[in-house]
Amino acid sequence: SHSRQKLVIGNWKMNGGYRSAQALLQPLVTAGVSAVVAPPFVYLSESARQLAGSSVSLAAQDVAAEAGYGAFTGEVSARMLAEAGVRYVIVGHSERRQYYGETDAQVAEKSLRTVEEGMIPVICVGETLAQREAGQAFAVVSAQLMAIADCCGVDFLAGAVVAYEPVWAIGTGRTATPDDAQAMHAHLRGVIAGRNPGIAAGLRILYGGSVKADNAASLFAMPDIDGALVGGASLLANDFLAICRAA
Ligand code: G3P
Repeated sequence: SHSRQKLVIGNWKMNGGYRSAQALLQPLVTAGVSAVVAPPFVYLSESARQLAGSSVSLAAQDVAAEAGYGAFTGEVSARMLAEAGVRYVIVGHSERRQYYGETDAQVAEKSLRTVEEGMIPVICVGETLAQREAGQAFAVVSAQLMAIADCCGVDFLAGAVVAYEPVWAIGTGRTATPDDAQAMHAHLRGVIAGRNPGIAAGLRILYGGSVKADNAASLFAMPDIDGALVGGASLLANDFLAICRAA
């Protein structure tokens, strides 16, 4: 676990506003922290200029499944994101899966497009409350991850990051306990290790779901939790800074 560098990504979701985007980024630049932020698409180019030369990188919140350029109205391709200075792409967030019907196959395609353009996919997985209560959490989440490994090849995960976000913990203030999160992260790493132990050992698995300034350190202390994907608290400059510093 010592070789895996911690990673904190702030997912702004459909929040921001031109001014608040600038105001959220500046404290991170000034503090000199290592972090990743995922603003909405329209703010990416301007954010890249603001972050130039800093240790803050950019992520996109989604990407088209189609490659290059073409007649796909409303879509934003991996090539465009790479050109805009984006380094990571969040794929398969549970909100995409739930509200826009994204399937494992589409998530795999989007992950492939991301890597083809030299960026790093942040592949999101996670169970619903009903699935957890039915005792299916481990099976559901490992199936989501193995769907990617089966489609893209397990070696593909060497250039990827995984984010475990239990759906019931997103935006609810109800965090998975560090022990529960650790159990899932260890399970996922074990499943990948069954295919390729080296890839499993190097794979960064982030936790997401109501990560706050006051619970980040206890999550990061767990051996298989390699950072966080932060929603609500990434919209509060001081809170996000504190989470980055806890990593
Ligand atoms: O992608 C991050 C996210 O879904 C968690 O959101 O608001 O619970 O931190 P939040």
